[in-house]
Amino acid sequence: MLDPSADEIRNWGNSVIQLMTNYFGDLRDHKVYGRMSSREIRGRLDSALPTHGTDFEALLKVFRETIIPFSRQNAHPRMFGYVQSPGTPLATFADLLASTLNANLTVWRSAPAPVELERLTIDWVRQILGFNAEAGGLFVSGGSMANLAAIATARQAKNRSSARLRMYASSETHFSIAKAAALLGIGRENVRHVPVDKHFKIRTDDLVAKINADVEAGYVPFCVVANAGTVNTGAVDPLAEIREVANRFQLWMHVDGSYGAFALLAESARKLFEGIEQADSIALDPHKWLYLPVDVGCIIYRAPEIARATFSHEAEYTRVIGEEADEAFAFWDYGPELSRRFRALKVWMLLKGVGLDSLGEAIESNLVCARYLESMVRASDDFEMVAPVELSIFCFRHVPSHLRSESPQAIDDFNERLLIALQRDGSSYLSNTTLGGRFALRGCVLNYRTTLRDMKILLDDLRRVAKTLPTSV
Ligand SMILES: Cc1ncc(COP(=O)(O)O)c(C=O)c1O
Repeated sequence: MLDPSADEIRNWGNSVIQLMTNYFGDLRDHKVYGRMSSREIRGRLDSALPTHGTDFEALLKVFRETIIPFSRQNAHPRMFGYVQSPGTPLATFADLLASTLNANLTVWRSAPAPVELERLTIDWVRQILGFNAEAGGLFVSGGSMANLAAIATARQAKNRSSARLRMYASSETHFSIAKAAALLGIGRENVRHVPVDKHFKIRTDDLVAKINADVEAGYVPFCVVANAGTVNTGAVDPLAEIREVANRFQLWMHVDGSYGAFALLAESARKLFEGIEQADSIALDPHKWLYLPVDVGCIIYRAPEIARATFSHEAEYTRVIGEEADEAFAFWDYGPELSRRFRALKVWMLLKGVGLDSLGEAIESNLVCARYLESMVRASDDFEMVAPVELSIFCFRHVPSHLRSESPQAIDDFNERLLIALQRDGSSYLSNTTLGGRFALRGCVLNYRTTLRDMKILLDDLRRVAKTLPTSV
């Protein structure tokens, strides 16, 4: 098993390709999710610590008969939960090839061509964003890690270790920002959450007021985080205005574009992102709106030398000797990781294989689907929107006629039960959030397979499942 013959590799490969082909071919016939329990799954897995090997077909049988059916089908066109990419067969092959080569992208000499490919791909991402030519960065595991790297670099830029630092972000900001502040010793309590307006965008007047109050109280403001697509509603903060505030107070401006930033590839959304190229750093997730499978996040720095001052560590066992500057390049100087997968391969294959025009069209079509859902909801008398649609996230609730006169709490409870029932039903999948203290059904279109018809089916599914719930509230 450790060192199979060429014939064995071919046979395993044929079986895997057959499985993949069937899986992608039958996607719409699968439920997105179903009723399942930990006990049931454990019961299906042979838990004995293996002392002897098992043949490949038996391993694949477990994948086919237990792992696939007892998973959420993230590639399904009506998987609307969270911020979930569908993956794409092209990237499945890229991951297979990356593991075949098993390149470890620590430093140039460890993986010369893979490192060059990552640098090239990062430069393409830079160009997509319209960043300055000197900007650079790297791929990391996801948006959380990209945010962590950015906040660490922002603190380095301020370089006042004894200062009582303060940073600012809207109340809609993803929790990975506060988590980064906690992990970096800045402290969760020093992340000042700024209120949002009715479009869930940061109120820049409140931002300025908070900064002024902190300066007066002896704190050192060092960073402002702008959202390019919040996780709750998809709101894009006013980026150019935030840049002005950052300039006025000499703050690092970080943009969390993990969910939304690639939407600038879509013509109808581009305007929202004006000013993004002025940020000091940006977190992006190709494993969200570039449709790629996990894990691949990305951090771009306007001035990579500050990141280098943050992350570079010398040790005798990693010292690079006798090489020119380009060949002495080390990714570990720009981020927290040492050993790194060849994540760049799937990003490169996607960008080169599909091309920006088709990616932009796919993203545009996701935006159209979300707007269509919004228009159907607004035209209906049994659903209501609870936030405007900015990108591809939609937040709404079901209020059938028998609930119209009930209390907000009763309507919240009903929608909560509806969500659980919808997930168990399996035809469509939504997740949830709380907006203005009220429960909301929340969906996100992030799949190039999703069509307008799927948006209709989602509302039909909700109506159908709602009828199965007890009417008393
Ligand atoms: C706006 C935003 N930032 C950060 C993250 C964290 O990204 P990841 O899950 O890749 O760590 C998410 C995840 O949904 C997000 O939506």
